[in-house]
Amino acid sequence: MTILEELSRRVGDVFAEAELDRQYGRVKLADRPDLAQFQCNGALAAAKAARQNPRALAEKICQTLRSDAAFKDVSIAGPGFINITLADDDLARRLGAIIEGDRLGGWKTPEPEKILLDYGGPNVAKPLHVGHLRTAIIGESLKRIFRFAGDVVVGDVHLGDWGLPMGQLITELKREQGDLVYFDAAFEGAYPDQPPVLLMDLERLYPQASAACKADRARADEARQATAELQKGRPGYIALWKHFVAVSRQAIEKEYEDLGVIFDLWKGEADAAPLIQEMAADLASKGLIEDSDGAQVIRVASDGDNKKIPPLMLFKSDGGVTYGATDLATILDRVRTENPDRIIYVVDQRQALHFEQVFRAAGLAGLFAANRLEHIGFGTMNGKDGKPFKTREGGVLRLREMIDMVTERAQARLAENGLAEGYDDAETTDIARKVGVAALKFADLSNPRSSDYIFDLDRFMAFEGKTGPYLLYARVRVRSVLAKAEAAGAGAPGEVKITAPEERDLALVLLGFGDALRQAHNKRLPHLLCDHAFLLAQAFSKFYAGCRIADEADQAVRASRMALADASGRQLELILDLLGIQAPERM
Ligand code: ARG
Repeated sequence: MTILEELSRRVGDVFAEAELDRQYGRVKLADRPDLAQFQCNGALAAAKAARQNPRALAEKICQTLRSDAAFKDVSIAGPGFINITLADDDLARRLGAIIEGDRLGGWKTPEPEKILLDYGGPNVAKPLHVGHLRTAIIGESLKRIFRFAGDVVVGDVHLGDWGLPMGQLITELKREQGDLVYFDAAFEGAYPDQPPVLLMDLERLYPQASAACKADRARADEARQATAELQKGRPGYIALWKHFVAVSRQAIEKEYEDLGVIFDLWKGEADAAPLIQEMAADLASKGLIEDSDGAQVIRVASDGDNKKIPPLMLFKSDGGVTYGATDLATILDRVRTENPDRIIYVVDQRQALHFEQVFRAAGLAGLFAANRLEHIGFGTMNGKDGKPFKTREGGVLRLREMIDMVTERAQARLAENGLAEGYDDAETTDIARKVGVAALKFADLSNPRSSDYIFDLDRFMAFEGKTGPYLLYARVRVRSVLAKAEAAGAGAPGEVKITAPEERDLALVLLGFGDALRQAHNKRLPHLLCDHAFLLAQAFSKFYAGCRIADEADQAVRASRMALADASGRQLELILDLLGIQAPERM
């Protein structure tokens, strides 16, 4: 149980004793930390429901709580708010209990689930660009948060590997190298293992093909034709397609790795393709498919809707398979291969309607309960002009260029601050990359996920304020404080004792981790953990400025402070890990 859960239960008991709903006992952090540590506002609503005087009721609750030595102060504010402050001994005891293990007060979900997490969503033959950043960063962090809380998570990259772009690539390559064996329909031997293209070829062929198809109908028809043949399983095209996927995947995987993003599954839209016919037949037998101007659709609107939800299109009038059909069949594939309790899609907010339609269709078809399908949307990263971020030339910035850019900027910042000096080149570069990527990731994660934010590298990269570099630096500093204290003979961490206000404040923050994690998990909001990490770094800073550690004369106080510092370092490290941020050992 987290500290707020425990206190809520304790105060809830008192409401229950007074024959009132225990829900009124809900305790939260105090709005005015200068007056108290916690507060409970339930007496007002409880009094109203029971037709009692709120102050009198609050007074009665307070009196019972005051008899408990765990509370230093229980008082009424305003019309009936209950302010609560814990006794220092109780605070120390609670902290002692959470710092013993390696969860450091990290909450565990009472209802663990198997979650299939769909994030990343890159497309074959298209380079990763900044548009892919948020899903990767948020998805990776959610994966770690879920796992730490006790859920079983399978992360799937869900490659875009099966549509028209594949046919466009095939026809474009045929123009350049028509004598390749893949194009010979009569060929019956084994196709070469060696790919006929490199990544740079794909990155050239694809935009070339897509431009040609836009400009020329005949070319577009040719590409559609090739796509259809591929999807029907023409062996040469399948072999070629496999090369495209493998070449792309290798590059994409490397870039994700540099971002610290790791997938368990590398499945794609193509994995769902073989299930589409079967699924469509099932939907038809259930009477769910309708004809709409030659296209096949499922009606998903319902009476209670407060906005118009158009039907989900499954097949276009030319028979082409839609994104919707692919996503529905992917659910079927996931049920069969992973059988998850829940499927969560971390995808741009602009796809919200698509997911609403798909989820409803899945529910109607009995494929998967609609309330166990979740779209976790996010806003866009904009440039300073408020529009989706572009390069100075107006193009899309590649992820690779972005990583190089932040690494370079971090290198300059480190030098300005006199950090990471005197190490060998490899280490300096590694530190710069970690600081740069941390700046980017933390800026992205600390922003509430559904809002847009502005890409401002100078702000992200600052060593002061709520930034990735500040937190990495804080972690390194806690470590060095501990190492120096140890070297100076401060002795081992010992039992926690609260003797100074800075210790009390730090202890309270450390104890708040469980609630931050619980909320971040339940609301799928990693920024709540970012907020907590920042509070922790600040509280540690004040503690370190206000309290002696190594040169504290009282041995018990010294041991307690070593424990506080050690717990701060470990909790900060744990949170960075949950955010998916890699930290350098030194700076
Ligand atoms: N590849 C898609 C795109 O580029 C994103 C896929 C998201 N996942 C999903 N199951 N639809 O927009």
